[in-house]
Amino acid sequence: MRSDALGSARHITGAMASPLRSLIEDDSRYQKSFQLFLERSSEHQCMQEFIRSRLPDILASVGGGKSHLNVIGVGSGAGDIDLQILSELRMKHPGATVDNEVVEPSGQQLLHYRVSVSQKQKELDYVKFTWNKMTASEFEENWKVKRTTKRADFIHMIQMLYYVKDPGATIDFFQSLLDENGKLLIILVSGESGWGKLWQTYKDQLCSKEISQCVTTGDIKSLLDSKGVSYRSHELPSQMDITECFTEGDEKGELLLDFLTEVLDFSKTASPELKAGVMECLRHPRCSVEANGRVMFNNNLGVIVLDKLSSKLFIG
Ligand SMILES: C[S@@+](CC[C@H](N)C(=O)[O-])C[C@H]1O[C@@H](n2cnc3c(N)ncnc32)[C@H](O)[C@@H]1O
Repeated sequence: MRSDALGSARHITGAMASPLRSLIEDDSRYQKSFQLFLERSSEHQCMQEFIRSRLPDILASVGGGKSHLNVIGVGSGAGDIDLQILSELRMKHPGATVDNEVVEPSGQQLLHYRVSVSQKQKELDYVKFTWNKMTASEFEENWKVKRTTKRADFIHMIQMLYYVKDPGATIDFFQSLLDENGKLLIILVSGESGWGKLWQTYKDQLCSKEISQCVTTGDIKSLLDSKGVSYRSHELPSQMDITECFTEGDEKGELLLDFLTEVLDFSKTASPELKAGVMECLRHPRCSVEANGRVMFNNNLGVIVLDKLSSKLFIG
């Protein structure tokens, strides 16, 4: 995970004597807690289900029969999801070659992505990868400086808009790159998820003001509605088993709590009031359901699909 985007993401709660540090300041703990989150949740399974069931029709609609397609992945991470998307794209456009721009600021993540690609070289011989080790805004700046005129058929930003300062401006820029029939896919946690409810109550204490850490698809939809931009959306049901968080001193529970609050060593550094409030909120029916002795947090994701903005025709 990129640390300079979040390096200044320290936040102080009124009730606290010492500042809470963002989990992302400690990359190794972040990666550990993220891995545990993936093990305890159906996050990747629900994305894979979407990629297999709904994405093919979206991908079929791009390109208008062209023999060469331009794809941009923003915040691709290690590329697991990107490679699945490319494989679905291949099935819908079997003869087409693909130019795939990868925009990812973390060198470590990019390396993992490149290793996966080199292991599948034959399967991926129709794709030309361009590795952009940079943030979305650096990519935008580069694109403008170089006056690039290339247009994209498919752009995706999956679980990344939390890390930009201005999600609306980021969406505007990438949407402006779409070609005729092009599509922009955004995935974030849903406004109706436990995350959305937790942030409704504790945004000021838990979320960084430097970036839009606590943004949900609910926020993005409100933004697009206010600008009159049309879109399609889907909800992807997902759960996360957070039972261990309620066993005091449980190592894994503490890692998960760090992930949920995005605070480094939340249990040890949060004030007793904040900790008690967050624990109560996590267990509340607004955020979780309890069944068979397990506490299952609502980890629903939201998908938003945008078309190329139609240029308005002014007469008179
Ligand atoms: C939660 S991960 C998601 C990775 C991948 N898309 C997935 O869903 O598996 C977020 C990714 O966004 C990247 N990122 C962080 N800040 C970014 C920025 N300002 N612009 C683009 N990507 C960023 C991180 O390095 C990380 O790889």
